[in-house]
Amino acid sequence: MTQLLTPDQDVDTSGVPFAITDRRFIPRERYFDREFFQLENEKLWPHVWQVACRLEEIPEVGDYVEYSVAGYSILVVRTGKGKDEIKAFQNACRHRATQLAVGCGKFRGGQIVCPFHGWRWNIDGSPVFPLFGQEGFEERTLDPQDLRLIECKVGTWANCVFINMDPNAPPLMEALDPVPSFLDPLNVGEMYVWWWKAAKLKANWKMAMEAFMEGWHVMQTHPQFAAATGMEIPADLLSDCRSYHNGHASQQQGQGSEVQEHTGLTETSEAESMLAFTRTVYEGLDAMVLAKDVQVFEGLRHKDIPPGQFSQKMIEALYEWNRGAGIPLPDPDPEVLSRWSSQWFIFPNFMIHPAFGNAIVYRCRPDDPNDPEHCVFDFWSVTLYPKGQEPGKPVFGGYPSVYDDKEWPLIPFQDFSNIESQQRGIHTPGFKATRLSSKWEDGISNMHVHLDRYLAR
Ligand code: FES
Ligand SMILES: [Fe+2]
Repeated sequence: MTQLLTPDQDVDTSGVPFAITDRRFIPRERYFDREFFQLENEKLWPHVWQVACRLEEIPEVGDYVEYSVAGYSILVVRTGKGKDEIKAFQNACRHRATQLAVGCGKFRGGQIVCPFHGWRWNIDGSPVFPLFGQEGFEERTLDPQDLRLIECKVGTWANCVFINMDPNAPPLMEALDPVPSFLDPLNVGEMYVWWWKAAKLKANWKMAMEAFMEGWHVMQTHPQFAAATGMEIPADLLSDCRSYHNGHASQQQGQGSEVQEHTGLTETSEAESMLAFTRTVYEGLDAMVLAKDVQVFEGLRHKDIPPGQFSQKMIEALYEWNRGAGIPLPDPDPEVLSRWSSQWFIFPNFMIHPAFGNAIVYRCRPDDPNDPEHCVFDFWSVTLYPKGQEPGKPVFGGYPSVYDDKEWPLIPFQDFSNIESQQRGIHTPGFKATRLSSKWEDGISNMHVHLDRYLAR
């Protein structure tokens, strides 16, 4: 049963074009209308906390990453060795606005140098005097405070660097509440990138994201699960859906017995079904379940395990193997471990799905500030590594074509085809609004409702 964890804020959204008036119906224009898209670019992205990069991307002082969204470019820079010694700046020279850096790299000598006339800044954003040619400027144009690079707010969580362009934004941890209280115990902050790729999709950023915000499409879109496990995948596989007042949402498994009842999973086939399920996740995603986990689980195949105890044995075997490998799995509190295989959506565009000491992490954003119907979707498969063997900078696997099934694992490949098809379908004359399940899709409703609060400001 969906719970809406309000209080609903008193925001008058009547001035927002195509505003949500009934959370069960999402007006189609929200996915392609240019005025609506421009409003997002003005009122959402410059004011919301969002993931700019992984923390591992900037391990050394001076390392930087450029983050772009909706026509804004931000430079994220490591300024010291401490985990949180990071700053973020609007990427514009204080002279004539030239972008100071692109892509990623290192600011050598601890200075950022404008490629146009060579003005310089320390990596803390302060200008370095004398500026080249400063004798030609009137003194009032060279106020050292006013010459500082324009800062964004920065916070870190789950090994990600979040930025907010709005100086009045609330602190990151307040904005993320309550998600960290659920996910921190799973050690998501100690997970590092196993692989990372991004997809460019012909779809609105929300349309793409929503394809990953519910689990009941698995039965039809990912038929390999039913085929491999020999069981029907129930619509309420993730039955405990919660929507939070700040736009976040979660889906967790209800009681284990519920799933078992719905699937008709018998005790004798339990082991084979569980093995098939985890193997199918590994083969179709190479995230959430990795080869190392499959190997551990397969080791139980011929063990004499009493009926009803297979999943417990899987966990025990997993802990034993990880302990031997020096990998810090979470404290095995059953309440905490029940969050393995849950889904967490963080408003407006970030998701974490943890399982077995791993997670798949998603971020989706517009690709072009003038085009509501293209987006870029990052996928990070992350996992816990043995202490002291954490990998260095993650290797970006680029933007393989979404039609390339050699480059993309089967599960996202299947999801991509729905997303572009939906974006084409949404233009159908006579189609007014998508209709959403109150039970399984309320996280999508909730995201739109909260989006309107930003757009109404
Ligand atoms: S535009 Fe940057 S120094 Fe002139
Ligand atoms: Fe899917």
